[in-house]
Amino acid sequence: MQNEKAVGIIGLGYYVPEKVVTNKDIEKIVDTNDEWIVERTGIKERRMIDPSMATSDLATFAAQRALADAGVSAEEIDLIIVGTATPDMFFPSTACLVQANLKATNAAAFDLAAGCSGFVYNLVVASQFIKTGFYKKILVIGAESLTRICDWTDRNTCVLFGDGAGAAVVAETKAGYGILGANLGADGTGGDLLKLPAGGTRIPATEESVQSRLHFIHMNGNEVFKFAVKVMGESALKALNNAGLDTSAIDVLIPHQANMRIIQSAAKRLKVPMEKVIVNVQKYGNTSAASIPIALREAIDEGKVKNGDTLVLVGFGAGLTWASCVMKWGKEAKPLA
Ligand code: ACO
Repeated sequence: MQNEKAVGIIGLGYYVPEKVVTNKDIEKIVDTNDEWIVERTGIKERRMIDPSMATSDLATFAAQRALADAGVSAEEIDLIIVGTATPDMFFPSTACLVQANLKATNAAAFDLAAGCSGFVYNLVVASQFIKTGFYKKILVIGAESLTRICDWTDRNTCVLFGDGAGAAVVAETKAGYGILGANLGADGTGGDLLKLPAGGTRIPATEESVQSRLHFIHMNGNEVFKFAVKVMGESALKALNNAGLDTSAIDVLIPHQANMRIIQSAAKRLKVPMEKVIVNVQKYGNTSAASIPIALREAIDEGKVKNGDTLVLVGFGAGLTWASCVMKWGKEAKPLA
């Protein structure tokens, strides 16, 4: 590790659509109520993408903010990785669409599919390119338009999700800062618990697939809940271990924002008091791969994350997948040129 380059985030931005959909609004669509949603999930409202837009638009807005925050031009970016479960289309990739929007003419681009773990997966993948010296500056994005794939007749799922995007510029940082340790994992045997069954090559789109509502999110909520609570604690511990640290080192925990009860249970397992846990699920619902960068950016803006803090980012999601990352925060801790 000693001669390894330190790699971290040097700019961060997010974008959420203007349209707010409250629990009361959803009461008019399915048989649910504000009390149930707040008590079981912590969610009060979520954002909904404008009909004129798609995921690449949200990703582009977030990326522009991250670039401005880093003081880096689009031409300086070597690679764009978009973590998304809701691409604009099968192909081209959303990353290529963002590359065109940004005029990031020197950047390679690809999407990474790891469900809600996408942003942390992206960070870890990006860091490898920088450590080896292959690339210098990488735009890492988590972006989702989940309201487009929600079944608005299914109260079990439609109350949970929202739209948004978060982006980070990843580059070399000062020694001792940036990513200190990480853990990535997957259990494909659990794939059936959370999926969008049709529209791919297994069940191509047909009239029947549409009528059977197979182009929407299907989820076994209880099983995903149990998996999430267990894996978030385990993965965060492995990442800490990878960094040579233990839970006492955590200054701020930034978990994937899926459900308040999942967040509380994970924090309890890690023995981290809720004062050190970033929560914004009440405002945005579950924005999948976008949730962690949005939460991190908001926490910085609210003064909850300070230079030198040790952060643990932990996500879980479709796949099933999980990903954690330990980071010494210091956005401006760039190495001297
Ligand atoms: N409003 C009112 N009642 C509801 C609603 C609703 N929106 N949804 C479900 N119910 C009912 C159920 O029908 C059930 O009624 P019944 O007992 O008459 O059958 C009752 O409430 C209890 O249902 P449960 O599923 O047991 O409720 P639970 O407390 O487990 O909460 C929830 C369900 C919120 C979905 C929870 O299981 C959960 O959060 N799971 C994890 C989901 C998640 O995080 N998914 C994202 C993964 S990440 C990614 O990659 C996208």
